Parts: sequence; structure tokens; C-alpha cells
Amino acid sequence: MSAQVDCVIIGAGAAGLYCAMHAGRRGRRVLVIEHNAEPGAKILISGGGRCNFTNVSAGDPARFISANPHFARSALARHKPADFIALIEKHGIAYYEKTLGQLFCDGARSSQKVVKLLMDECAAVGVEVRTNCRVTSLSRGERFELMTSQGAISAETCVIATGALSIPKLGATGFAYDIARQFNIPIVATRPGLVPLTFRPADREWMQHLSGVAAEVAVSCGKTSFREAALFTHRGLSGPAILQISSYLKPGAYLNIDWLPDQAADFLVAAKRERPRALPKTILAQHLPDRLAATLAAQHPPRELGDWKDDALISFAQRTVKQALLRPAGDEGYAKAEVSVGGVDTNALSQQTMETRVVPGLFFVGEAVDVTGWLGGYNFQWAWSSGWAAGQAC
Ligand code: FDA
Repeated sequence: MSAQVDCVIIGAGAAGLYCAMHAGRRGRRVLVIEHNAEPGAKILISGGGRCNFTNVSAGDPARFISANPHFARSALARHKPADFIALIEKHGIAYYEKTLGQLFCDGARSSQKVVKLLMDECAAVGVEVRTNCRVTSLSRGERFELMTSQGAISAETCVIATGALSIPKLGATGFAYDIARQFNIPIVATRPGLVPLTFRPADREWMQHLSGVAAEVAVSCGKTSFREAALFTHRGLSGPAILQISSYLKPGAYLNIDWLPDQAADFLVAAKRERPRALPKTILAQHLPDRLAATLAAQHPPRELGDWKDDALISFAQRTVKQALLRPAGDEGYAKAEVSVGGVDTNALSQQTMETRVVPGLFFVGEAVDVTGWLGGYNFQWAWSSGWAAGQAC
């Protein structure tokens, strides 16, 4: 089944399908190839099946991590969350704001509607999507020549939309990086992002007893801080606050956790004035789950508040509660990571179109590129905005 098209897009995920429909709207003959049996595997499982498809703040480049923090600005400014929301509304998909500007589809398994939306928009402009199709080689002569498990493809332009390394069992591959290397395009080293953290045996021992316990915390690393829920797991820590900070964490760095972000450092001193006979554990348990309060308090002798000097109580609160330092041993890896940090170096790409500077007609979009969003709809917005930008030019 050989094919001659204007544009071949490799990867029928969020960025690839979105790019395809916009290129198709320009009248381009577009073929999308996907090695999975179905398109949009990550969209389907995203947001617990409800797809957190964007965030009202996703136009802010400060919420994206990249070696070049300004790179994402142009695409995000030209194709905004409002543009994707308009499409969701055009297709009559119900949605709601969950928290922190995160927009989710409404209803169980409603993420299917987002895949259907993309496939319908592609079909409306004549885009062909070929699934179960494996690329065996890609070369550039006058045109891009691909050999695939379903025959040869010749195309004027080629968009790499194969995503990144997280969740290999959903079809994630390092294909985009292989193509980048083939054409001598630099790659910013990749690592798992938005990923649960693991700890050394000594920490894991006390954390295991807290598995399932959650609390709202402020967690920081260097100048970056997130205030959201943290959750103890059997192997360490997860929950939105931990996933967020994981994308910024360098190996060996400490996490600084404030288990009671609404309390001042002298909250135990204030409690001592009112309840001198109370134990610190009792005061902590007024604000934190019992098991967590008991574990934190157990780091100190169980003396009544009245038996502590004010300075000692402030130091207790600071070291144990307000600025607790924890050093992760590692993370749960790509098998559990929502995204990959790093990717195709943005210095090699046009900020306007995502086209590579060295290979005219070759584009990279979506998660393959060294742009990683925060948790909460930012990564899909990057897929839409970068896919749209390439879709205007490919
Ligand atoms: P994506 O991974 O979506 O698509 C790449 C496509 O290329 C896939 O279909 C893949 O099979 C295909 N492919 C790969 N290699 C290939 C090859 N060699 N040949 C042919 N095809 C190939 N983000 C967000 O904003 N809101 C959310 O709710 C969530 N939730 C979420 C949950 C979970 C569990 C994960 C793992 C991730 C999220 N994300 C998210 C992140 C989001 O899913 C991700 O950033 C986007 O899907 C990236 O879109 P891309 O199109 O770049 O890659």
C-alpha cells in the first residue's frame, strides 16, 4: 500500500492528530501512521478516563520546563486554551473545572470523546489514519521516504509526533529521539517527570506505615514550590504536590516539606499557652491525619508542651513539620511517569512552526520536544499548541 502524500505524521496521539486536522484544513493531503492498534492511547487513560484536556492558565510559559524557558511562549500565545475549549464546545462535550484551573471532560470514560473529536475533525478534512503501521526506515532525499510495515510512503514534509518514553506499555517509544540522532539534531537528556518518588530503606520503613495517608503540603526544591496534596505509598511519596516537584528534582537533591503550610513556625508555642498539658502529637493531630501526626511527633521525646522551652518548640516545629528535609533515592521510572522531561532540543526548532532548522520539512511536536508542562492539563495544551503551530506549516 504505497502512498504519495503532502505530509506524513508519525504518531496518532494528541499532538499528531491535532497537527493532522489543522494541516488537512489547509488542504494538505495528510497521512498519519500509528504503530498501536488504536489512536490516542494516552488521551483515553488521561485524567482517570476524563481527560484533563487543558488548564485555564496553560498560556503561561512559566508553567513549562525547558532548557529554553521562552521557547513555548509563541505557540502557547498563538493557540490558547480558549481555542481548544471552543473545539470541545463545538463538539458538545460537557466539561468542568476541577481545581486550580484544570478542565476535565464530564462523565466516566469521557476521554473517548476527545479521541472521537480528533478523529472526526481529521476525517472531515480527508486525513487518513493508518494504525498497526510500523516505520522501519525514514530518509530524506528530494522528499521524505519511509518504509513501513504497510508499504512505502513518500511525503513532502514529515512531522514526528511519537511522544516520549513514559508508559512503554501504552506504546511509548524513543522513536523521536532516534530520528533526531539520525539527523544530528541535539537532544536534552531525558528523565521521568510527574513521577512518584522512592526513598532509601530507612525512610521507607516509616513511610510504609503511612501508606494511603494524604495531606495538603507545601513542597519545595530550590526556588520551586507547590502546594497540593502529598500521598504516602508503599515505596515513598506520590500525590499532585510530589508529582509536580519531581519534574524539577535533580538526583541527590532534598525535598523541603511543610506539612502544615497554614501554621506559623510558632504554632506549638501558641498551643502551649492554651493547653500546656497537651502532647505535641495531640496538637499535630488537630491538623494532620492521626498516623502522620504520631509519626512526625515520634521524632522527639513525648513531653507535654509545658515542659518545652519556646525556642525548643519552634525548633521542633521547624525541623519536623515546617521544613522537613527528605532526600528521595529515586523515582518509579518511566513505567509510572506521566511525562518525560527533556527531549528534542528546542534550539534546533523554529519557535513558530516546530520545523527543524537543519532538515527543512522535518517537524517535531508534543512531548517529543524539550517542553514539559506542570500537572493539570498543561501537557495536553502543549500538544495542542505545538501541533497547531506545525499544522500551519507542514
Ligand atoms: P502521545 O504519547 O500522546 O502520542 C504519541 C503517539 O505516537 C502514540 O499513539 C504512540 O503509540 C505513537 N508512537 C510512538 N512510537 C511510535 C512509532 N515508532 N511509530 C508509530 N507510532 C508511534 N496530560 C494532560 O495534560 N492532562 C492529563 O489528564 C494527562 N493525564 C495523563 C495520564 C497518564 C497516565 C499519562 C501517562 C500521561 C498523562 N498526561 C496528561 C500527559 C499527556 O498524555 C502527554 O503529554 C500527551 O499525550 C503527549 O502528546 P503527544 O501526542 O506528544 O504524545
